[in-house]
Amino acid sequence: MGYWTGKSLVALIEHPPAEVLALVDLAAALKADKRAGVEQPRLTGKNVALIFEKTSTRTRCAFEVACFDQGANCSYIGPGRSQLGTKESVADTARVLGRFYDAIEYRGSLQSVVDGLVRYAGVPVYNGLTDDYHPTQMLADVLTMREHSDKPLAEVSFAYLGDARNNMGHSLLLTGALLGMDVRIAAPNALQPDQAIIERAQALAKETGAQVMVTDDAEQAVAGCDFIHTDVWVSMGEDSSVWQERTELLLPYRIDARLMQAAGKQAKFMHCLPAYHDRSTSFGEQFYEDHGLVGIEVAHEIFESEAAVVFDQAENRMHTIKALLVATLSHTN
Ligand code: CP
Ligand code: NVA
Repeated sequence: MGYWTGKSLVALIEHPPAEVLALVDLAAALKADKRAGVEQPRLTGKNVALIFEKTSTRTRCAFEVACFDQGANCSYIGPGRSQLGTKESVADTARVLGRFYDAIEYRGSLQSVVDGLVRYAGVPVYNGLTDDYHPTQMLADVLTMREHSDKPLAEVSFAYLGDARNNMGHSLLLTGALLGMDVRIAAPNALQPDQAIIERAQALAKETGAQVMVTDDAEQAVAGCDFIHTDVWVSMGEDSSVWQERTELLLPYRIDARLMQAAGKQAKFMHCLPAYHDRSTSFGEQFYEDHGLVGIEVAHEIFESEAAVVFDQAENRMHTIKALLVATLSHTN
């Protein structure tokens, strides 16, 4: 794992596919060790800063538990809880935290903040989600697809339906292309990935042998695929006033029994979570009142079905983030 020593994770595509897969292999090994009760702490004495300018359940807790399991310490700095952005620049914050900590995780809106932290901190920086990318989620998604398929990863097909210009749409498209997979994106024209991202995926696909499809035809995208991913229709940081327009655009892309049937019996359902799959949130309840449907981006019956692997996927956030920490910070990886 020498490649990863001291490296940052800003976006997955900045790293060679073999090294990304090596990280996923390490995560699988760490997961097995933890299950067997034989995990060895390799990060004793390390300190990790966790900056969250947006809320989180999985990413925050994955970083914290991964640190605890490996003997590292961490500091959670929640939204509005540091001087960053109001009283202090990214460059100064990075230079201070880089003196205290061995690594910094950052979640927020702007990719440029992650880039600034990388530039000035002098320690590894991990992108815990920006408006552009969600690379630690990609590591978990790849591990989960590998665990739930008998095929070599390069023969696995997956579709992503929903807001394909968001961090998940962009990340899944590029990850599939990077790893030589069969990746299909289905979204209405207004919500398709940025042209530059599509072109980057197509260029990567030429090198890796990936198949890349971007379409507005949901049934065409899911036909015969191994995994169907979706995400919330309105992301963190977006104004709630966009819900109505987004719903009108995305209703044909809602993951329901009809689309799962169009995919075929082999298809598993994935979602980075949190998901609006029932009526227990105000948006979920409003959606039910407006449309008579339980679950916004995914029907409740699909979310709770045997086809859903979403909690394995969520668990894998911790194992893959642990692998990232060990590979970048440990001298014995
Ligand atoms: N999937 C994900 O990033 O979840 P959180 O927002 O809870 O961290
Ligand atoms: N697209 C979602 C992902 C959440 C993990 C958001 O940014 O809110």
